[in-house]
Amino acid sequence: MTTHRVMQLSAKRTALAIAQATDIVPGPGEIAVRVRALAVNPFDRYVEALGDLISAYLTYPVVPGSDVAGDVVGVGEGVTRFRVGDRVLGHAAGLEKSRNNPAEGGFQERVLLLDHMSSPIPDHLSFEQAAVLPLGLSTAATSLFQRDLLGLSAPRSKPAPRGEVLIVWGGSTSVGSNAIQLAKAAGYEVLTTCSPRNKAYVEKLGASHVFDYGAADVERQIGKLLRGRRVAGAVAIGKGAAAACIDILAACQGKRFVAQVTPPASFDDVTPGPGRWRHLLPAFLKMIYGNLALGLRARRKGVAMKMVWGGSLVDNDVGPMIYKTFLPEVLANGSYLAMPAPDVVGHGLESIPAAMERQRRGVSARKLVVTL
Ligand SMILES: NC(=O)c1ccc[n+]([C@@H]2O[C@H](COP(=O)([O-])OP(=O)(O)OC[C@H]3O[C@@H](n4cnc5c(N)ncnc54)[C@H](OP(=O)(O)O)[C@@H]3O)[C@@H](O)[C@H]2O)c1
Repeated sequence: MTTHRVMQLSAKRTALAIAQATDIVPGPGEIAVRVRALAVNPFDRYVEALGDLISAYLTYPVVPGSDVAGDVVGVGEGVTRFRVGDRVLGHAAGLEKSRNNPAEGGFQERVLLLDHMSSPIPDHLSFEQAAVLPLGLSTAATSLFQRDLLGLSAPRSKPAPRGEVLIVWGGSTSVGSNAIQLAKAAGYEVLTTCSPRNKAYVEKLGASHVFDYGAADVERQIGKLLRGRRVAGAVAIGKGAAAACIDILAACQGKRFVAQVTPPASFDDVTPGPGRWRHLLPAFLKMIYGNLALGLRARRKGVAMKMVWGGSLVDNDVGPMIYKTFLPEVLANGSYLAMPAPDVVGHGLESIPAAMERQRRGVSARKLVVTL
């Protein structure tokens, strides 16, 4: 029996630690991948700090991690797109309710990926570059294309202009970088916000109008630009994004719908282990109050809003539409960029906690990556 190393939570409220796991043979619709690079996301920290509170359905051991790139080492029944030796990237879906499987968590040397949540890596991209994509891409795609969210038309390699503007608040985030590119590929004009230092970055991704979210009169500036234009809705990423998007859309023509990516309270100060309630309780109260306040604001202003769950595309038509149909072609022809660019924090599973801590302290238009 062969084994590999894994970074896991062995039981509720334990800290992440390295353990050994048995290699698993891929089942129908799955591939086994030797991971060469992985990226970290805010949610990975939350699983450790408050996992049993936000994802009580998970059975232990739990292996966090969504973003992986590596070599295919096994192919399950019915998989025709991949062969052993292929280079792939994929959204590791182990934390999804429908999967709930440590073998599908990204923080390990060998992982099981779903065929429909994986794409080939073209030769011009390294594993480190490819690993930046999955959760940012999945969350953006869910926001834009899932029918109960913005429900926009599907992205294409040669889009036809639709004459509508999509607002992506927080365009330099990982989710925002993908939302800009996906919206552009679906034929929408993109208006976005970021810090002034990232203006050229979001323009390179396809944004036509860029505003500084820190400017005191940013909403007035955006409202002025949108006067007489038709909007396709908004993706709200970052602190304060949802309230700003509600206010802007309330004065616009078109789809008054906010896909809310960032919740109204941050759990960044919650650390795992004893004493976590000191930060957790105020964060929870802020979350409850924030959700109520946003709901009332949206209703008062005639704007619809819904929270995004970035992994929900695993179980609907958006997942295969992105990873099987859209991404392989546009990554290969270079019209879709694997962004934000990777910052490699270290090599080996041991580097994951350092990468997560750097993520907590904040990044700007960068994705933190660990090589294996
Ligand atoms: N709902 C879900 O399923 C889901 C999934 C994934 C992520 N998320 C959430 O989405 C957010 C983004 O995650 P990520 O991994 O994409 O983040 P990230 O790349 O780590 O975000 C870093 C970026 O945040 C930007 N930023 C900071 N404050 C901002 C603000 N007030 N408004 C707009 N942008 C701001 C910074 O932009 P500048 O440097 O240009 O200032 C920086 O480039 C987080 O809140 C995360 O928890 C939710």
